[in-house]
Amino acid sequence: MSHKILSKRRLSEDVFTAEIEAPLVAQARKPGQFVIISINSEYSERIPLTIADADPERGTIRLIWQRVGKTTAELADMQQGDEIANVTGPLGKPTHIENFGTIVCVGGGIGNAPLLPITKALKKAGNKIISILGARNKELLVLEDDFAAICDELIITTDDGSYGRKALVTEPLKEVCQRDPKSDQVVVIGPAIMMKFCCEVTKQFNIPTQVSLNTIMVDATGMCGGCRVEIDGKAKFVCVDGPEFDGHKVDFDLMIKRLNAYKDQEQQVYEQYKKHRCKIGLDK
Ligand code: FAD
Ligand code: FES
Ligand code: MG
Repeated sequence: MSHKILSKRRLSEDVFTAEIEAPLVAQARKPGQFVIISINSEYSERIPLTIADADPERGTIRLIWQRVGKTTAELADMQQGDEIANVTGPLGKPTHIENFGTIVCVGGGIGNAPLLPITKALKKAGNKIISILGARNKELLVLEDDFAAICDELIITTDDGSYGRKALVTEPLKEVCQRDPKSDQVVVIGPAIMMKFCCEVTKQFNIPTQVSLNTIMVDATGMCGGCRVEIDGKAKFVCVDGPEFDGHKVDFDLMIKRLNAYKDQEQQVYEQYKKHRCKIGLDK
């Protein structure tokens, strides 16, 4: 079964969203889960993307992705009416949702996309939500309105001060952690380095912290080992044991090293793709 793109929109220079036909996934998915897509055929690269939202009645899921390399660029070049060959899911363990009390939801860059469905579900369960969203600059900040609609408090930071507060997310996070009464839980999703430093902050205050790990994935069935991470010194597979883990137990340095393992090859194929799309007149 192929999966038609029913609508597609650009959210910023490099961030796109699309509504895709995937009735079985739309019915079964829970917040925190993801799909693996392959664009053209069984021979295409497989990439994981979070199910940002779903409409079981329409039989659709919403994906939000940042163009960072060849496959995310290929997806960005697809149009309404085009079909994605494979959408496999829902995968991964759903987020544990309950009324914990006050939750701080911290998103960095495209991390806001996987954070949104979790934040929505936590709000629906009755939690008070304080969101801290960070981006390198104003243009790169996405989904601010979606968060504003569900949060009790929203703090925006940019690295260059072009919007919100000029700071890294760790600065307001530390201030929120210092408040009395203490927040009950923190959820952080973003680049591995940002999750690492946020976890260092919350550890000082002994606030339980969940992170969603964005390791490289291939099969997403726990067999290839591509997504292996170390949690509390033990090997875990993000695709089947995660993607969410106790952030205070993650070996982020190992994860960052493994994320960069194929950088040269990734860059090479992306350059080739950019030349190809330029030749066929897709460059814009
Ligand atoms: P490449 O140039 O191939 O790679 C760029 C970087 O992306 C790499 O250095 C590596 O860090 C990472 N990457 C490369 N291949 C893979 C792969 N097969 N699996 C995972 N990471 C890879 N991104 C979003 O924009 N939106 C999302 O909702 C989202 N959800 C994710 C959920 C999960 C559970 C995981 C693990 C990742 C998620 N990602 C998401 C990251 C996304 O999968 C990568 O950005 C994408 O695979 C990059 O592919 P590329 O070919 O365009 O880039
Ligand atoms: Fe292969 Fe997780 S992606 S084991
Ligand atoms: Mg790739």
